[in-house]
Amino acid sequence: METGHNQGAGRPARKKVCIVGASGKLGQYMVRHALDRGYEVAGVCREASVPKLDAFKGRITLFPGATDDRRVIERAVDGCDGVLTVLVPRGVHGYASKTAQAVLDKAQPGARLLFSCGWHITLDGLDVYSWKIKTLVKVAGPLARLARFADLDDQVEACRRVFASDTRWTVVRGSDLEEGDSQGLPVWSRHVGDPILKSNLTRRIDFALFMVEALNNDELVHRAPAIVGGQTPSALACASAAPAP
Ligand SMILES: NC(=O)c1ccc[n+]([C@@H]2O[C@H](COP(=O)([O-])OP(=O)(O)OC[C@H]3O[C@@H](n4cnc5c(N)ncnc54)[C@H](OP(=O)(O)O)[C@@H]3O)[C@@H](O)[C@H]2O)c1
Repeated sequence: METGHNQGAGRPARKKVCIVGASGKLGQYMVRHALDRGYEVAGVCREASVPKLDAFKGRITLFPGATDDRRVIERAVDGCDGVLTVLVPRGVHGYASKTAQAVLDKAQPGARLLFSCGWHITLDGLDVYSWKIKTLVKVAGPLARLARFADLDDQVEACRRVFASDTRWTVVRGSDLEEGDSQGLPVWSRHVGDPILKSNLTRRIDFALFMVEALNNDELVHRAPAIVGGQTPSALACASAAPAP
């Protein structure tokens, strides 16, 4: 991340991050990881979801509102060194793409921007998908749109805009998720289809950990890592097969 602002007596200020979509499951884990690492935390969530963050009362600054509301985002990301955005394709009104655009436009220059999505997003078209993922996108996608519940294409459009931007972005592509205690930092690959990702499972708490740790990992700038749990069989098999350094 860029250097933080300096405060008075030469002591560096705490770095500040904004979590957009803070009240969801992934968002709450990210809030926890960010606070544990000493960040000052701002959060954006829908007005009705504010009580979900009661456990963090007094420790984070909340900006209630829709995440695609540019005025809310502008205030929330002010002074932030990093912005962690949960991209959700809810509804059929461009929620994810408008959220991404607001963050891209309003984050301070040089801020580290992290976006979450699923494996179905591709950066360079070189991912190799299983029939299960292809079916999910081809069948469940249109059904969700028909029911006006979600629009997977909107998450694709959101990521297209991120990929095209000259900000310091990383798009983190999550596998299937499960709850449970942390198993540590997930491993990643540039492409779905890589044997290391075969297990297709990550603890949600560790997805959040990857997002927060990526704030300080410049190797991931302008990349779209596809992640999988570090203790899954495919990750362990690849670790044991790797040549000794
Ligand atoms: N679920 C999976 O298996 C999976 C797999 C791979 C990747 N991912 C990615 O992981 C991230 C988190 O997904 P998640 O499934 O774990 O869910 P999550 O963390 O619970 O997040 C859901 C988000 O959607 C918001 N939301 C819910 N209903 C909404 C509505 N009607 N209008 C606007 N916003 C609404 C929630 O806000 P409120 O708190 O206000 O409800 C929350 O911020 C996403 O980027 C997703 O693409 C998920």
